[in-house]
Amino acid sequence: MTPISGHTRIFGILADPIHHVRTPQVMNAAFGDAGADAVLVPMHVQPSDLPAFVQALRSMQNFGGANITIPHKEAILPLCDTLNDTARIAGAVNVIQRGADGSIHGFNYDGHGFVAGLKAAGHDPGGKRVLLVGAGGAGKAIAVQVAENGAGYLGIANRTQAKAEALAGQINAHLDCSVAAAVADDPGGYDIVINATSLGMRPQDPLPFDPAALDPGAVVAEVIMTPEVTPVMAAAAARGNPTHPGLPMLTEQVKIFLELYGVSSSTPLA
Ligand SMILES: NC(=O)c1ccc[n+]([C@@H]2O[C@H](COP(=O)([O-])OP(=O)(O)OC[C@H]3O[C@@H](n4cnc5c(N)ncnc54)[C@H](OP(=O)(O)O)[C@@H]3O)[C@@H](O)[C@H]2O)c1
Repeated sequence: MTPISGHTRIFGILADPIHHVRTPQVMNAAFGDAGADAVLVPMHVQPSDLPAFVQALRSMQNFGGANITIPHKEAILPLCDTLNDTARIAGAVNVIQRGADGSIHGFNYDGHGFVAGLKAAGHDPGGKRVLLVGAGGAGKAIAVQVAENGAGYLGIANRTQAKAEALAGQINAHLDCSVAAAVADDPGGYDIVINATSLGMRPQDPLPFDPAALDPGAVVAEVIMTPEVTPVMAAAAARGNPTHPGLPMLTEQVKIFLELYGVSSSTPLA
């Protein structure tokens, strides 16, 4: 890592609590690899202080941006001057960028990271029938990007069905088409089945869907990073179905964050 000096640009991760976050390790290693004169520090901010804190960041001229996590992902939305489509539809921001004029721009790249990882593994959702199980924060962002990447059909299943219906309606309105529909969690008849619930993090969790009903060759993709192989991935693999883990969703986002933070040569994403 470049030694911190008066030239160093400051980035952050906003969370409460903060001790568990791994973003500083991941992003500072990435800054180091990129040769960037930048540092990312933990910013422990309570929800009631968020508006004042974001206002203060506007005046900090060497502040470049911050990753946003629990409990601030929704609360920071109205504090941003602009939002990308995924943030607006998902109702959550996972990274902010400070413009040179002190403006604060909110983005959600969970879906971009997920789809980039899927594509890099050879599972392009373009033209495919995709079942998304889970319409929480991660699920919403994934739904936007799966649809934007040309899925032929997007079935959305969720324990709370009203959320699946609302999300399908938002996707169809956003793309002005009828690609998405709220469906049951039956994975039969799909090319790609995504677990975007939190089911699988704890050993006692039920499976998010029945792997016995998967079509032969259907890809089972995860958002969960720990464990690396979730029970539904193991069950799918035992049936001979290809699986895709949760980690690439994060590693692909790190590349996007570097672009957004202006420490790589590519153009920032919209
Ligand atoms: N790999 C990555 O980079 C990455 C990034 C973000 C998140 N994630 C992971 O994604 C997962 C979801 O995170 P999130 O932020 O979307 O959480 P969230 O907003 O709380 O959503 C949780 C989802 O899981 C469902 N769910 C929870 N308990 C359930 C149960 N007992 N039975 C059926 N459905 C259940 C919820 O259904 P209801 O709507 O009915 O409550 C909802 O769809 C977490 O494991 C998180 O760690 C990974």
